[in-house]
Amino acid sequence: MKIHYADWNEFRASKLKLDMSRGKPSPEQLGLSQALLDDPAYTSALAGDGTDCRNYGALLGIPEARRLFAELLGVSAEETVVAGNSSLALFHDSIVFLLLHGAPGFRPWRDQGPVKFICPVPGYDRHFSICETLGIHMLPVPLLATGPDMDEVERLVARDPSIKGMWCMPKYSNPTGTIYSAEVARRLGGMPAAAPDFRLFWDDAYRFHHLTEERVATPDILAICKERGVPDRPILFMSTSKMTFASGGVAALASSIGNVRWWEKHLSIQTIGPDKLNQLRHVKFFRDRSGVEAHMDRHRALLRPKFDAVHRVLDTLLGGVPSVSWTRPKGGYFIDLVTPPRVARRTVELARSAGLTLTPAGASFPYRNDSTDQHIRIAPSYPSLEEIELAAEGIALALLHVTGAQAAA
Ligand SMILES: Cc1ncc(COP(=O)(O)O)c(C=O)c1O
Repeated sequence: MKIHYADWNEFRASKLKLDMSRGKPSPEQLGLSQALLDDPAYTSALAGDGTDCRNYGALLGIPEARRLFAELLGVSAEETVVAGNSSLALFHDSIVFLLLHGAPGFRPWRDQGPVKFICPVPGYDRHFSICETLGIHMLPVPLLATGPDMDEVERLVARDPSIKGMWCMPKYSNPTGTIYSAEVARRLGGMPAAAPDFRLFWDDAYRFHHLTEERVATPDILAICKERGVPDRPILFMSTSKMTFASGGVAALASSIGNVRWWEKHLSIQTIGPDKLNQLRHVKFFRDRSGVEAHMDRHRALLRPKFDAVHRVLDTLLGGVPSVSWTRPKGGYFIDLVTPPRVARRTVELARSAGLTLTPAGASFPYRNDSTDQHIRIAPSYPSLEEIELAAEGIALALLHVTGAQAAA
């Protein structure tokens, strides 16, 4: 393939300015949902049961939105809560409720001593920020090809009652694209936990964000946990942030009926009702699961060429360079570039000095501590196709410059 820059110095001289630090949808992707704003067919105030969406109420979401998200998550509408614009806010609030009020039938986590969470790594920096800010001690566990290292997870969770939670991204994990196997999900649902109020925070953010024609299914963690006698263990989360509008979409959670009642009780202190107008707009826009899947095919058509472009550049410039590898995700928003030890941070800093802003190295680890300093998160979604090719060259050339290795090309 055509490579635009002969070496790092040429890239630096090009003065490319690009911020690739977050996995944001591109303007073209946002445009796929423009009708939500422009088409009066999607705007109305009355829900199917007569609820006036302009008014207070429907704390757990309007019935048609609960039905839609239940269908999307493969659970019942009674197990589903449809909320405001952000699943991140739902993670945060569920953990705060557990810390301050406790799980149903249990004392508040904060009254039971230190609280620890299992954090598969690399993982999502904002999960870790929530733990850090709330004083939850994070225990990193390696993320293997089929999900978290379950031998390690089972060992830790079985013996330590202060381990109250675990972050899980079952499909197209941020940043590695990892897909949890059915076996991993079965072990997560079935493992003995020393803490009876232990929770799985099952963040299914990329449930519909396929990059290939294969629509990989997420293991049904609610059913697994029900079957294993721990129905309250999992809380599922998703949102339409990367389907319609990022921070202007709709978020939802699903869990046991007991947990839904618990959520309702604490939520009723926090708000009188969610943005039901946006919920109704989204239901009319998507209609059902097949509507969501068709819409996500259009996202895939925009995203896939950008991932392909990054892969082509990395293959060309870094293929065969010792100790350098990268993920080829089947979905999600990121590529994890793995460098030789102790060079990721310097590579990111060098790229930044030339105008290319990446996610800070180490961000995918608790306390920003990537002990071997080997991971760089590449977020190809936002830049244009032309820009992403140049940016990928910049990243590869920065890495070659830092390591002193020769380009493969
Ligand atoms: C794994 C994961 N969960 C959650 C979010 C944020 O979701 P929301 O926009 O619903 O708050 C992101 C955003 O990048 C993400 O990567």
